[in-house]
Amino acid sequence: MTHNKAERTVVLIKPDALQRALVGEIIKRFEQKGLKIVALKLMELGDAILSEHYSHHKEKPFFPKLKSFMMQAPIVAMVLEGIEAISVVRMIAGKTQGREADMGTIRGDLSMSTQANIVHSSDSKETAEAEIKRFFKENEIIDYVHGNFNFVYAEEERE
Ligand code: CMP
Repeated sequence: MTHNKAERTVVLIKPDALQRALVGEIIKRFEQKGLKIVALKLMELGDAILSEHYSHHKEKPFFPKLKSFMMQAPIVAMVLEGIEAISVVRMIAGKTQGREADMGTIRGDLSMSTQANIVHSSDSKETAEAEIKRFFKENEIIDYVHGNFNFVYAEEERE
């Protein structure tokens, strides 16, 4: 990581967003906030990786349908980096239920659904670490210096 206070978090742009041609709109929102993209790729997810990723939901009635939904089309997986990136990304994503999410958030502006809720984001440091390993090889994450860093953060935040 290029800065010791920075966190990394995983965002999955779900099949509904890809099919609705919202990928650019979603990436734009994270970029404009000042988050740094350190990994980005298109993936097709299979049953095994989805069963692991959603293992905490395996007893829920929606589990099989959630997995089929996530296999309907490719997803875009990315790792975003920034100070407090995990909570900032969740704030930008908005509440899980699209119809209840606040306007101004990705889900509030773009989703009418609980399942088809456009993005997934890591919910804690532990989850982020596990999800980075689940979706990315080490050499797919690129540790580069972003030119806007000194303008996105104040000096004391960078220390
Ligand atoms: P996410 O927060 O990324 O991770 C779990 C996903 O399960 C969630 O987004 C929704 O896509 C889906 N989900 C959660 N609750 C429900 C539900 N009640 N019915 C259908 N899908 C759900």
